[in-house]
Amino acid sequence: MPRPASDSVRAMQLQGASVLLTGASGGLGRAMAHALDARGANVLLSARREDVLEEIRAELGGRPVVLPADLSDAGGAAALAERAGAVDVLVANAGLSAGGRAESFSAEEIDAALDVNLRAPIQLTRALLPAMLERGRGHLLYVSSLSGKVASPRGALYSATKFGLRGYAAGLRQDVEPRGVGVTVVYPGFVSEAGMFADSGAKLPPWVGTRTPRQVAEAVAAAIEKKRAEVDVAPLTLRAGTALASVAPVTVARIQRRLGSVRVAESIARGHRPDG
Ligand SMILES: NC(=O)c1ccc[n+]([C@@H]2O[C@H](COP(=O)([O-])OP(=O)(O)OC[C@H]3O[C@@H](n4cnc5c(N)ncnc54)[C@H](OP(=O)(O)O)[C@@H]3O)[C@@H](O)[C@H]2O)c1
Repeated sequence: MPRPASDSVRAMQLQGASVLLTGASGGLGRAMAHALDARGANVLLSARREDVLEEIRAELGGRPVVLPADLSDAGGAAALAERAGAVDVLVANAGLSAGGRAESFSAEEIDAALDVNLRAPIQLTRALLPAMLERGRGHLLYVSSLSGKVASPRGALYSATKFGLRGYAAGLRQDVEPRGVGVTVVYPGFVSEAGMFADSGAKLPPWVGTRTPRQVAEAVAAAIEKKRAEVDVAPLTLRAGTALASVAPVTVARIQRRLGSVRVAESIARGHRPDG
């Protein structure tokens, strides 16, 4: 059961709130932009592909602001925060899939995954948090993954970044919630229709269920408004397997392998890095 965050954090109304959304040009980001805009938020859309951000801005009647940024650049996160100005809510959603064997990555690929998935959310937090603390109000939401709770074959690097977000948020929550700033981590499982899993073209065994980008986006908006600490967005079987993995990781890994996890993981990794 998702636990509500401490009562010292007031519920965050999205109506009229300024929300910086990273990874807005992606499969889940686009759905999040729609869900946040539908709740009356003033959405700041960020990613590298300005043309896609402009397309989303047009879909939303020109209301959002477009702030292109490359979060793998050393100063990219700090510069984005500066341009965003006063932000009530950060939705740190940008991410790279980073699947493959540890030895298959170049040094640059490893840095890019760590930079976009983990360093940028932490740097954005550092830049945006002081003003939130001063106002005694704000919300920080990090999009992790069920791979941030349980690791899979070929998922070491991706899981390192997504477990990292979970650890960062869990510690941060204890420091900032008493001062009025909420912290949420969202853990999607496999997402159909759009986004990095759908784009990989990988097929799941029939018993593994998925969620849609819209379901993830609704969960993100609701988690902010209901001040949830942690939210899984996946069918019960995946959530149960994940919970079991935290107490019996070796046994669950063995079961995962028997159920075909290597084949799925390899086809996801090949979908993104055919030569990896
Ligand atoms: N889809 C799933 O099944 C799934 C499951 C669990 C968790 N997640 C997580 O959900 C989040 C969104 O994923 P998605 O499925 O929407 O993936 P996606 O469609 O591949 O989108 C990734 C987003 O990250 C942005 N991005 C990548 N590199 C960047 C960089 N250097 N600087 C700035 N932005 C960058 C991309 O924008 P540009 O290319 O325009 O820069 C894009 O907006 C990720 O954190 C992912 O790990 C996804």
